[in-house]
Amino acid sequence: MIIAVDGPTASGKGTIAKKLGEHFGVPHLDTGLLYRAVGRQVALNSGDPDDAADALAACDFADTLLEDEILRSEETGSMASRVSVHPDVRKALFERQRAFATQPGGAVLDGRDIGSIIAPDADVKLFITASVQERARRRWMEMTDRGIDVQLADVEIDIAARDARDIGRADAPLKAAADALVIDTTSFNREQAFETVLEAVQTALA
Ligand code: DC
Repeated sequence: MIIAVDGPTASGKGTIAKKLGEHFGVPHLDTGLLYRAVGRQVALNSGDPDDAADALAACDFADTLLEDEILRSEETGSMASRVSVHPDVRKALFERQRAFATQPGGAVLDGRDIGSIIAPDADVKLFITASVQERARRRWMEMTDRGIDVQLADVEIDIAARDARDIGRADAPLKAAADALVIDTTSFNREQAFETVLEAVQTALA
């Protein structure tokens, strides 16, 4: 069983995908982390994330980098978004994601192109979204809780810029697969969002 969970940044898709993995007893891969590792490696190499060759060279990152807390930072998220526009980077990360998706017993993957490119054969495809304002509010609260001093308006600008880049890129742009279940969590809290998703997944699998 493959479950594909796509959606924009800060939509809650990561938390939902992780919980779905726990619920169904299958492993979960946060594919954004792979792009974040590439973005971070470009910085470590003193490379340019907008340069295709520099970005491709950074795909050769050490697996230990995936554990680095710095991958969770907004700065690395923005670098990830920039390296992810290069088709060669997407190709370099494809096999790893595809192998994870097709492992015996199934898997849950979350990202931007899981239902369209990585696992078009997924049993269930979800597209989790929420308004830019609500996603900014959630990200801002999360950052404030972690002691990061940041203005809500700046977080909103950053999220809108990330959306524009992820939606506007030529290769595998962020969009709901034609057969995806679109779930808008703007007016839900975490528990309500997961309950709604779980119900939708169970109905789709039945
Ligand atoms: O989900 P995230 O915010 O950790 O992802 C960081 C960036 O990586 C995102 O802005 C776009 C890119 N990404 C992608 O292009 N394809 C994926 N499957 C996952 C992430």
